[in-house]
Amino acid sequence: MADGGAIARDMTLRQAVTAAGQALRAAGIDDAVLDAGLLLAHVIDGDRLTLIRDPGRRLDDAQSRKFAELIAARAARKPVSRLLGRREFWSLDFSISGAVLDPRPDSETAVAAALEQLPRVEGAYRIADFGTGSGCLLLALLAERPRAWGLGLDISFAAVQLAKRNAQDLELSGRAHFMVGDWGRAMLGGFDLIVANPPYIRSTDLAGLAPEVRCHDPRQALDGGADGLAAYRALAPDLKRMLKPRGRAILECGRDQAADLVKILQTEGLRVGGFHADLSGVARCLRVAVA
Ligand SMILES: C[S@@+](CC[C@H](N)C(=O)[O-])C[C@H]1O[C@@H](n2cnc3c(N)ncnc32)[C@H](O)[C@@H]1O
Repeated sequence: MADGGAIARDMTLRQAVTAAGQALRAAGIDDAVLDAGLLLAHVIDGDRLTLIRDPGRRLDDAQSRKFAELIAARAARKPVSRLLGRREFWSLDFSISGAVLDPRPDSETAVAAALEQLPRVEGAYRIADFGTGSGCLLLALLAERPRAWGLGLDISFAAVQLAKRNAQDLELSGRAHFMVGDWGRAMLGGFDLIVANPPYIRSTDLAGLAPEVRCHDPRQALDGGADGLAAYRALAPDLKRMLKPRGRAILECGRDQAADLVKILQTEGLRVGGFHADLSGVARCLRVAVA
């Protein structure tokens, strides 16, 4: 069933989603029916409610073929977001590609933590996002702070191109600028807020990641070196220079890395003001100030 062969011509929407759900479950996909529904909605008209409102509607030949292809790819562990080329983050719609990390709901904790540091909705804040990827962190912040200005930086040219496109699609390109670079080395500074979600997986842990991550997120978005902390060591020495005297940084980290990250930051003369936990209660972000 993992080849999408469960999908036959002329099936109703209900039959198609049931058959696809069974096929995905057989392939070990946890959210089999949900994923089948999202992919079927994409094939018909993009609206998942159509599956509820009109379950007896029949797929035409082209739709059946397309749906079977998508189900086969999902059974082979390609994430739904990669199949759709889209991901919702902070209730905004982002394009994604093979050049960028698929934005994670956990990273919305970083957005919430950053907004606490930008208390005035109308504040003309200057924000930097290091390792911007799809641009999701910076663009979510700019969407919430209509007079703020932001710079997203990434080592990947393709990521920067995609982030620019997302800024345009979200009508934020007038306030969002992007550049290719290696962490903070070429940057002067003057930022009220720096946000960063660097790669933080230990190199030796990469092989054990789920295929959805290992085979589809770019390695340079994941690989944090031997102890997972290489990117923080590279970025930390520039933070103090780049922040305004009362500026703050919000750094996302892995579930067991907060204590080691505090040491790295303190060595650079920075003060860690607190942690922000994600929905599972894991310390996910550190709040950093110029000491
Ligand atoms: C974990 S991803 C985060 C992407 C995005 N900010 C998000 O939260 O979804 C880390 C990003 O850091 C970028 N990166 C890796 N090494 C870098 C470097 N030396 N300088 C700048 N960016 C780098 C990667 O290309 C990747 O886009």
